[in-house]
Amino acid sequence: MASDFISKTKRSHSCGALRASHIGEQVVLFGWVHNRRDHGGLIFIDLRDREGLTQIVFDPAVSREAHATAEALRAEWVFGIRGKVRSRGLQFSKKENKEVPATNPNLATGEIEVEVTEIQVFNKAETPPFEVSDHIDVSEERRLAFRYLDLRRPALQKVIMTRSKMNAATRSYFVDNGFLELETPFMGRYTPGGARNFLVPSRLNPGKFYALAESPQLYKQLFMVAGFDRYFQIVKCFRDEDLRLDRQPEFTQIDVEMSFVAQEDVFGIIEGLLKRLWKEVHGLDVPTPFKRLDFDESMRRYGNDKPDTRFGMEHTVLNGLIEKFGVEGGVAPMWETVQQKGLIKALVVSPVADGQHDPGVVKAKEEAFRRANPNPTAKVPPPPKELSRKEIEELEQYVMGMGAKGLARAKLAENGDWTQAPLFKNAKPELKAAILEATGAKPGDLILFQFGPEPKVHTIMANLRVHLAKKLWLIPEFGAGGKWNFLWVVNPPLFEYDEESKTWAAAHHAFTRPMDECLKYLDGPEQDLSKVYCYRYDVVLNGFEIGGGSIRLHDPAVQAKVFKAMGITEEDARSKFGFLLDALKFGAPPHGGIALGMDRLSFLITETESLRDVIPFPKTQKGTDLMTGAPGDVDEKQLRELYVKSAPPAK
Ligand code: AMO
Repeated sequence: MASDFISKTKRSHSCGALRASHIGEQVVLFGWVHNRRDHGGLIFIDLRDREGLTQIVFDPAVSREAHATAEALRAEWVFGIRGKVRSRGLQFSKKENKEVPATNPNLATGEIEVEVTEIQVFNKAETPPFEVSDHIDVSEERRLAFRYLDLRRPALQKVIMTRSKMNAATRSYFVDNGFLELETPFMGRYTPGGARNFLVPSRLNPGKFYALAESPQLYKQLFMVAGFDRYFQIVKCFRDEDLRLDRQPEFTQIDVEMSFVAQEDVFGIIEGLLKRLWKEVHGLDVPTPFKRLDFDESMRRYGNDKPDTRFGMEHTVLNGLIEKFGVEGGVAPMWETVQQKGLIKALVVSPVADGQHDPGVVKAKEEAFRRANPNPTAKVPPPPKELSRKEIEELEQYVMGMGAKGLARAKLAENGDWTQAPLFKNAKPELKAAILEATGAKPGDLILFQFGPEPKVHTIMANLRVHLAKKLWLIPEFGAGGKWNFLWVVNPPLFEYDEESKTWAAAHHAFTRPMDECLKYLDGPEQDLSKVYCYRYDVVLNGFEIGGGSIRLHDPAVQAKVFKAMGITEEDARSKFGFLLDALKFGAPPHGGIALGMDRLSFLITETESLRDVIPFPKTQKGTDLMTGAPGDVDEKQLRELYVKSAPPAK
C-alpha cells in the first residue's frame, strides 16, 4: 500500500541533496518521473522534486521486482524508492576514446546515482498535454490552462521559491526594524479617485456595494492616527485596470507606513530592505544610498518618471534654441510648436564601437537567442554597431504606432553634412551648429526629433529611447544584464492639469504633503498650482516603478486648502473621505509611507519575462484565469439574491 510505504519509510533526502559524500548510504527518495531511459538491461530515471533531479538506476541484478515495476513507469508518475547511493562510475567516451567518469557537471547531484532496491508507485499519470521541461515550445495559453503542470517546470519552481524566500526576508527585515505586521480589510467603502475598483454586491444590504481595496492606503494612515507607528503588510491589492506586462488585476504590495518621519527616513528603510533582498537572492551588495533625481529633470532627460539609467541616449529639449532663432531659423514646424507651447526634443544615436558592448548584456542577449533557437548550430548574431537605413525607417513606423506624425531625423555624414534630413533643408547653419552643440552629436551620429504636445512628445521619446537601447544591445530585452540601477524620483508637482476638464487634480492622491515653501502658491495673491511641489517619491529599477509613496498631509488646515484648490467642496470631501478627515482632527502624528510592488520586484529580481512568470496563478491580459475559467457565469437566482441585474453598459 502506498500509504504504508510513506508511513513506514520516511523520506531521507530531497532529490537535490545527494553528493559524493553520501556514497554508500541507504536513502529514501520521493518524486516524479522527469525522464526515463531504457538501456537494455538497465532503466535510468531522473527523479524530480522541487529541489532538483537525482538519477536512479533499476538493475535486475539488484532487484528483479523493482526493475519489473520500473518498466511500466512513464512521464510524471509519482513514486518512492529505497536504494543505495553509488558513484556514477565510468562510461566510454568516443571523443576521448577511453573510459571517463560518467558525472553530469550540469546537475548538483551529478556525481552520484541511486541503485534501487525497492519501489512503490503512488500514482500513475496520464500523458501530460506538454512535457514538463524548461525547453518546451508550447503556447502560454496552454501552459496557463494546465498551470499545475507548468508550475512543475524546474525554472518556474525556482522563481516561485525565490518569491517565498523574498517574503520571508521581507518579514524578518521589518520585524528586525521594529515594524508591526497588521492586517486591513479587503472589502471597504468605495472612494473615488485612483484606480478603478472591483465591486462586490452586499446581500445583507440590498443595492449596496463593497469595493475591493486598491491598496490599504486609508487604513494604514488610520493605524498611524491610532498610534501603531511602523506598520507593514505583504498584502493583496485589487485594481480593475487595463493589463500590461507589468500589471495584474490582483497583485501584491509590500505596504509600509511610519510616524514622525521625513522622506529620507522612508528611503533609508526601503533601501535597507532592497539591499537585504538582493543579498538574499543574488548574494549582491547593492550600493546605498540610491541616486535621487528630481521629477522635472527626469521628464526633461528621459521623458518619464521611471527612467532606465543603464544607458545614455538622454533627451535634449530644444525649445530655447528654436525660440531664439525664431521663424528665421528655417525650421517652421518646430517654431510653430514653440508658439503653441508644445515641446521639441532630440535624441542622439551614436554607433557602438567594436568591443564597446557591455559583456553582461551580450551574454543576456546570447542566452535569449539560445532559448529562442534551441538548435545548437544556430549562430548568434554579433552585437549591432548601428542602425541600417531600413531600421531607421522602421523606427518611423514604430513612433507612428504611438500616435506620432512622423520621425524627423538627421544623419551626420563624416564631413559634417546633414543627410536624410528634409526638415532641415532650409535651416540656418548657425541653428544646426547650435543643435549639434546642445545635443553633443558628432559625425556618424543620428539625431532623432519629436515636436508637438508636451505629454505626447515625452512619451514617444521615452519609449523610443528604450526601444533603441534594446535594438542596439545596450540593454537586454528582459533582465538586468548585470546592472541594477536603483533610483529615487523625487519632488514632483502635487497637481496635474487636466486638459479635457480644464481643472487641476491631485497627480497622486489628495493626501500628499506639499512642501512648506510652496504653501503660498495654494491660494491667495501668489496662487499658482503648477508651482506646488510635494513630498512624493517613486523608487525605480531599470526603467520600472517598483514602489511609490509620500509624506502625508496631516494638517487639516492645509488639507482644506488643497481640496479647495482642486475645486472639491467641504461637503464633497466629507462625503468621500469623511472618516479620514475626522481622524486627522484627533491628533494625527506626522506620517508617511510607501508601497512596493512585490510582483514587479520578483519579476525584476528573477529576470523573467512578465509578471505572469512570478505569480503562481496569474490572470491573462484579458483578466481571465484559463485554468478555472474565472470570471464565470452565475445563475439568475444568485444575481437576484444580490439585487443585481445584468445589463449592457450605459451609452
Ligand atoms: P501605487 O499605486 O504607486 O501606490 O502602488 C505601489 C506599487 O504597486 C505596484 N503596482 C502594481 N503591480 C502590479 N500590478 C498592478 N496593477 C499594480 N499597480 C501598482 C507598483 C507600484 O509602484 N497607496 C499607495 C502607496 C503609498 O502612498 O504608500 C499606492 O498604492 O510597483
